[in-house]
Amino acid sequence: MDVKKEIEELRREILRHNALYYGEDDPEISDSEYDALMRRLKELEDSRPDLITPDSPTQKVGAAPLEKFDKRPHRQAMLSLGNAMNEEEAGEFDARARKRMETEGPIEYVAEPKIDGLGINLVYESGRLAWAATRGDGEVGEDVTENVKTIREVPRSLAGGSPPPLAEVRGEIYMPISSFRDLNQSRELAGEPLFANPRNAAAGSLRQLDSRITAGRNLGLFAYQLGAVEGGPSLETQFDLLRVLEGWGFPINPLARLCRDLEAVTAYYREMVEKRDGLDYEVDGVVVKVNRLDWQRSLGERSREPRWAVAIKFPPRQKTTIIKDITVNVGRTGALTPAAELEPVEVGGVTVKRATLHNQDEIDRKDLRIGDKVLIQRAGDVIPEVVKFIDDGEHGRRPSYLLPRFCPACGTEAVRPEGEAVLRCINVNCPAQAKERIIHFTSRNAMNVDGLGEKLAARLYDEDIVKGVADLYRLDLETLAGLERMAEKSASNLLEALDRSKDVTLARFLFALGIRRVGEHVASLLAEAFGTLEAVMDASEAELLNIEGIGPEVARSARDFFQRPETRDLIGELLKLGVRPREAEPRVKIASAFSGKSVVLTGSLESMTRAEAGARIVEMGGKASSSISKKTDLVIAGKEAGSKLEKARKLGVKVIGETEFIKMLEEK
Ligand code: IVH
Repeated sequence: MDVKKEIEELRREILRHNALYYGEDDPEISDSEYDALMRRLKELEDSRPDLITPDSPTQKVGAAPLEKFDKRPHRQAMLSLGNAMNEEEAGEFDARARKRMETEGPIEYVAEPKIDGLGINLVYESGRLAWAATRGDGEVGEDVTENVKTIREVPRSLAGGSPPPLAEVRGEIYMPISSFRDLNQSRELAGEPLFANPRNAAAGSLRQLDSRITAGRNLGLFAYQLGAVEGGPSLETQFDLLRVLEGWGFPINPLARLCRDLEAVTAYYREMVEKRDGLDYEVDGVVVKVNRLDWQRSLGERSREPRWAVAIKFPPRQKTTIIKDITVNVGRTGALTPAAELEPVEVGGVTVKRATLHNQDEIDRKDLRIGDKVLIQRAGDVIPEVVKFIDDGEHGRRPSYLLPRFCPACGTEAVRPEGEAVLRCINVNCPAQAKERIIHFTSRNAMNVDGLGEKLAARLYDEDIVKGVADLYRLDLETLAGLERMAEKSASNLLEALDRSKDVTLARFLFALGIRRVGEHVASLLAEAFGTLEAVMDASEAELLNIEGIGPEVARSARDFFQRPETRDLIGELLKLGVRPREAEPRVKIASAFSGKSVVLTGSLESMTRAEAGARIVEMGGKASSSISKKTDLVIAGKEAGSKLEKARKLGVKVIGETEFIKMLEEK
């Protein structure tokens, strides 16, 4: 077979396995088989560097582990939990425990959210974090110490003085839902496979051989148990245990609660069913633990599950229903987004009537049509989505669905730019876009104007009172109170809210402007990097690109936006009307030999770990990357630097050794 063909085939295969491994946490081949494919691809690319493309899996961070992790036996086994599917089964659990303890009275419990993440065992020797391992099979886990050390919430040493000689601290590593979305968004822009959910993203981030990748992902921790402890504090209850963990410096779930009896547990469970959608982490149930530790010991365990603890699961978030219709919404950037109008159905405690269908490709991929029976799901506070068509074989189906060719709001012909999945209305005066911009501008995470809902925004627009966001600050009591069905009190409340909104952080203001590809996260990166509105407006594409976390498409979009005369007029008007974006504290960045440089570390260093070296480079304004390309500015070669060093030489990238690197670090 010719080399080019083989390379292409290998890439396709590897990308498919990446998707299985990262996206589904469900690999089809073993790590060593994967390594063999990767090695063969590298070999071929080395022989034909002219065939290397930036999207080759060899050029990307986030490849699957190339070696296995070391194994770590746990001192005390990490048990799993029995499930109670509902309140009734929770009652049975309580009854069993009381019978075993031969008690007539109620049992006291600690109840807390069951975090949908990865169990972790953190081992502290004389108060220092010695190592960390995943749960594994409960007896033996994988050593992920270096990666865990990059997680800010994991204490390196126990606070509070007089630490025990040994303590196994157990908890859950998770990825906040907001970070999960940011991560997937940037992976989508980079053409990388998406993670299916926050749990998989956390697993994929923790099980990395290169801890710099873990460091770049925002992972959190909730500690909830102790394993083996030697010479620790004497504890009587589970609740005291949480206080001790807190005193040692661990994050404890603030929703953990002492419940005096089963009834209090049930009330807690109902409260959590209501609360789960408002949390920034996935919770899949409530864990209930007998509070008295001596009782926990007497109850013991049965087939790897404690008799003193149980997980009460939340109602499922998947249901089947019917797509009654498909409608199209025009967003503030003109994107035409199809939505499925559903036969209303209750999912996990909420009635669902609509689900987003994203775009035409998504509809085609899932082959969704009006009239179809479908499975829908809600994950976290994410908008409901259609998982798949369910073929019951009973009904004939309608023809495939095609998005309209014209904007449903203004009738302009919609376009689908090359390489994009989204169909767009490009009429800048499209009324639907204008309304959406107003709604976005005033929304809670933007200018936070209370009292201006979707309906009122549409009315103000349709009645020619507010045509653009600047008009909001020209509203007066007379006009507002004169609107039909508008009470004077709500009118004056709205005016007050508008007035309050003028004092706004730069990040919120940038987000409120509704720049394409600039979400909350990017807006705060811009605010931090530049400090003032003027500086953001005048930033060149290169300066924007220099910011860690901002890619070429975002940089271009922001630059285009601020260059438009309409933007400059609008911002001028808003400032004149009294909107004052507060200057942000610029991130302390030390101008150094690493500023703006893309640096690759290879081999091992004597004076520090690679993760530490990476962190120092980032602190000093550089970018630590794991693969070498033409864009690499500098390679730091430690001991036993292998193929990367060769590649650097081939590409003519500057290479320095450890001594020179240390010198550069000290020169700041
Ligand atoms: S206690 C013997 N508490 O759920 C007690 N586990 O299904 C075992 N989990 O492997 C653990 N949140 O990874 C406990 N608040 C919580 C938890 C929790 C999530 C996970 C944990 C465990 C799994 C069992």
